[in-house]
Amino acid sequence: MEKRTIRDLDAHDKRVFVRVDFNVPLADGKVVDDSRIRAALPTIKALLDQDAIVILASHLGRPDGKVQDGLRLRPVAERLSQLLGRSVPVTGDALGVGTEDALRRLRPGEILLLENLRFHAEEEANDPAFAMALATYADVYVNDAFGTAHRAHASTVGVPEILPAYAGLLMEREIVMLSKLLESPERPFAAIVGGKKVADKIKVLRNLIDKVDIVVIGGGMANTFLLAQGKAVGKSFVEPDRVDDARAILEAADAAGVRLVLPVDVVVAKEVTRGTEYKTLSVEKLPASWSIVDVGRQSLDIIRDALAPARTIFWNGPLGVFEIPVFGEGTRQIAKYVGEMADAGATVVIGGGDSVAAIEQQGLSAKMTHISTGGGASLEFLEGRILPGIAIIPDREPAGA
Ligand code: 3PG
Repeated sequence: MEKRTIRDLDAHDKRVFVRVDFNVPLADGKVVDDSRIRAALPTIKALLDQDAIVILASHLGRPDGKVQDGLRLRPVAERLSQLLGRSVPVTGDALGVGTEDALRRLRPGEILLLENLRFHAEEEANDPAFAMALATYADVYVNDAFGTAHRAHASTVGVPEILPAYAGLLMEREIVMLSKLLESPERPFAAIVGGKKVADKIKVLRNLIDKVDIVVIGGGMANTFLLAQGKAVGKSFVEPDRVDDARAILEAADAAGVRLVLPVDVVVAKEVTRGTEYKTLSVEKLPASWSIVDVGRQSLDIIRDALAPARTIFWNGPLGVFEIPVFGEGTRQIAKYVGEMADAGATVVIGGGDSVAAIEQQGLSAKMTHISTGGGASLEFLEGRILPGIAIIPDREPAGA
């Protein structure tokens, strides 16, 4: 069932509370990655074009209910002002008389950003009085904060329990793109799942394993899979308590006829640090005192070959220790390759941190079908879980109802 979105809303002259996810990285008082801000622009512009009064609300970081000057939203408001080409004021607090006054002065077609919601502990506690105070600001509620949809907080669940709720255009796109992966991917469907820990990805793997045709496993988590296959992985990072989980995935892939690709050669290093000694070896003969830090060339060839027929690719997580550039080669090669696949017409969806960074570093973002703005939220969605911030938005009424 489709969610009700702002396409179903006449926002003209209405006060609209828009929950956005402006939880973006800052350095020296500046936004260093504005992709979440840019992703919310279509919803904000659509509402302003309709002469709505737009009241934006977000969290930033984890201030645990206390005011932290380093987590004020002013840098975000500055970046948003540049992107919109108009000034976006930010209140000194999400609540209070000053904020209420500022809200009263807003005219149709004007916009304002509330200060960091998490300066109030009541936000994360989904406190009913806090939710009610926020709800009094507006006539309707829009959730465009897909990245926070897995949190049942006052601004994601409490307010839409009180006000008529709609999904924003980013929220709509995330739901459509990620649902398509789970429900009707064009086949063959390949998932590339990397990152350090099996523990972080096991639920996604379990949910995807009987939906995909090909799965590539890389990054630190691949070490535990190699261990499950009886290989010695030297000093590499492993999760012994996840060997059974890894074995279960190997068996499930086998039973479902899924092609599961693990590294056959790897880059190993004396220490997992910059400037250390490293070399490429077969996974069959790894020395006891070295650590796996990246996939090797032969593995990359096998991965390319496995991905070649794919019409849909989902990628989450790096294939090596990407934060150390010399061990990020496997991840960069995969980024290039999925870019080529996208050029050739495959649907390519990227979810999560370092894989997004690898795509962006190489200027490949525009080629991708979709880059999810959700970290935890996109993983939980692909685990098949119901996200509270989405569940609370009513479904669109069937045409003619
Ligand atoms: C995120 O960055 O994943 C979201 O903004 C949610 O933030 P949180 O993990 O602090 O709730």
